Amino acid sequence: MSWIREGELTIIERFCANVIKAGPMPKHVAFIMDGNRRYAQKCHVERQQGHSQGFDKLAQTLRWCLNLGIREVTVYAFSIENFKRSKEEVDGLMDLARQKFSRILEEQENLKKHGVCIRVLGDLPLLPLDIQELIAQAVLATRNYNNDVSESLLDKCLYTNNSPDPDLLIRTSGEVRLSDFLLWQTSHSCLVFQSVLWPEYSFWNLCEAILRFQMNYSALQKARDSYMEERRRQQMERDQAYVTKKLQQEGFASHGDSRRRRTLLQKCTAMREERIQGFLQALEHKRVDFFERLCTVSA
Ligand code: IPE
Ligand code: IPE
Ligand code: MG
Repeated sequence: MSWIREGELTIIERFCANVIKAGPMPKHVAFIMDGNRRYAQKCHVERQQGHSQGFDKLAQTLRWCLNLGIREVTVYAFSIENFKRSKEEVDGLMDLARQKFSRILEEQENLKKHGVCIRVLGDLPLLPLDIQELIAQAVLATRNYNNDVSESLLDKCLYTNNSPDPDLLIRTSGEVRLSDFLLWQTSHSCLVFQSVLWPEYSFWNLCEAILRFQMNYSALQKARDSYMEERRRQQMERDQAYVTKKLQQEGFASHGDSRRRRTLLQKCTAMREERIQGFLQALEHKRVDFFERLCTVSA
């Protein structure tokens, strides 16, 4: 049976979905799908069965999200720490991931027609590249331009750069930690911890999490806006200080000629943008190279 159909809503669910949709909705939701093994234990089934039902639940949840108009979902399916589990469990999980993700991707073709984007993050071999290369490249590229290094540049360097930060992050199974998942990207997200075990996640659990997002919406929005404003202010302050220094080098008094100051400021912003684009393109090439090498090795 199609997973897509399994996520269809009943009349009462559809009615509640419409009520919820009258409020502000998260555009991007991240899930830490936790509790598969406890579920298996509780239901006296094999551990692998718990994981398998966990993947099925993901497919169903994606469909609910689509019905609620949530176009972007990021899931945490496996962490680096999870490699420390027994070989049998890791192999089992990898087999399931291969099978179930390819099925989800097949059905995603369907979801794509509705503009849904699925992002799966977290892969051990990518981390050393991310961190070591990124730092090395950034140090070289920005050696003479300290003003280039900013939080917004860091955003652009991450794998998640094409996507807005999650509005809502949900972790199931009662655990109240992030376990290294999207730490940077969720600093202004609504974090919802629910006690339900992932394979038992229901449409109502999702509604409850969204309601909590809606209850906190204005505070979240305010915090995000003032953070972005502060970023802009800091960048402007750094640029002004740079221009002042330049003007002094040109023999002007520190406040300078206002037209010259404006021109220098525009030039400084444009040149920074150019350097940053160059740096990001080089980083992207490195990543593509890395992926190609990885595919050749594993082929
Ligand atoms: C989450 O469930 C799935 C993965 C980490 C792969 P767990 O396997 O962590 O199950 P619990 O939390 O031990 O019940
Ligand atoms: C968390 O894995 C990651 C996923 C749920 C995929 P665990 O359930 O093992 O959590 P930690 O490592 O104990 O936080
Ligand atoms: Mg767990």
